[in-house]
Amino acid sequence: MEALLRVKDLHTYFFSGNAVVKAVNGVSFKVLPGETFGLVGESGCGKTAICRSISRLIHPPGKITRGEIRYRGTQEETDILRISDESMRRLRGREISMIFQEPMSALNPVIPIKTQIYEALDSKLSKKEKYHRSIELLRLVGIPSPEKRMHEYIHQFSGGMRQRVMIAIALAGNPRLLLADEPTTALDVTIQNQIMLLINSLREELKMSMILVTHDLSVVSQMCDFVAVMYAGHIMELCDTVSLFAEPRHPYTYGLLSSIPREGSRRLESISGAPPNLADPLPGCPFAPRCAFKEGRCEGELPGLTGITPDHRVRCFFYEKLDGLDGFIDEKEGAPRI
Ligand SMILES: Nc1ncnc2c1ncn2[C@@H]1O[C@H](COP(=O)(O)OP(=O)(O)OP(=O)(O)O)[C@@H](O)[C@H]1O
Ligand SMILES: [Mg+2]
Repeated sequence: MEALLRVKDLHTYFFSGNAVVKAVNGVSFKVLPGETFGLVGESGCGKTAICRSISRLIHPPGKITRGEIRYRGTQEETDILRISDESMRRLRGREISMIFQEPMSALNPVIPIKTQIYEALDSKLSKKEKYHRSIELLRLVGIPSPEKRMHEYIHQFSGGMRQRVMIAIALAGNPRLLLADEPTTALDVTIQNQIMLLINSLREELKMSMILVTHDLSVVSQMCDFVAVMYAGHIMELCDTVSLFAEPRHPYTYGLLSSIPREGSRRLESISGAPPNLADPLPGCPFAPRCAFKEGRCEGELPGLTGITPDHRVRCFFYEKLDGLDGFIDEKEGAPRI
């Protein structure tokens, strides 16, 4: 199947004073039509920087220094990094939409939400069509009394409702690709589940592809088809979700999965040690200082992403050491054990 999005060798750096923070350091992956692609990894590993690079929202001191982001939507395939600002504005919202972690920073506080939905809708629609479509969208995301609430401002909504409004605005342009950057972390747990289910059912209904950034591996197991595990600006493991749980081959992935408590909290626990300083990267594998499987070579040389199978790639010289270890699939139920 032809990919909708192909990210190739993306480098996104932040320049502050003399320091260069290498937030995204040569990342490549593709997203197929209708697929949910998960991005996971500890805080600061470059997940948001990837999403913002795709929607071309990296501003100084940030800069995309290298790479291609090839997108094939309704038009011919283009490189998002090389099209005009005008073409990018057309793509944003219509083809590619983003849901952020914090709706207050993404929505305009002094404009009623109705106007913000109208702006995201196809400009060819009549006023009446826009009105009906806005109500339909607000109803779709579960906002009660949309006829009344559409005239309100974002601060008049509760946290969960704000997130729903942002989803309605993100969907207004009927995008093919939704970038969902930890869309529920600011919400309490019961509402998190509701919003995740909502996003997933809308994605299926509207046949969108999605890049989902999450810390929650149970969300990955339920929603993602393919996953990239990120560490310090690099993809360490790239595979389908079943392989991720059944046979993780990167020691970092293994650590993430092992650190999930069996009962209770499902949040990622950190692995002992701290992530590296992205402004002063080590010459070798960035995970080596924390890795239980490392050997001398790991500290001097960055491993490439090796293909174990066509759908499973891993950035580790010694991935075979993990061959005999148990996976994280419940044998009775055949489902991820998390
Ligand atoms: N505007 C900025 N100026 C300087 N450094 C930045 C800026 N934005 C991000 N960075 C740095 O880039 C790196 C990657 O940040 P990013 O926000 O992409 O991480 P993340 O994986 O999304 O983390 P989180 O899970 O906490 O959201 C971090 O080291 C961060 O400090
Ligand atoms: Mg982030």
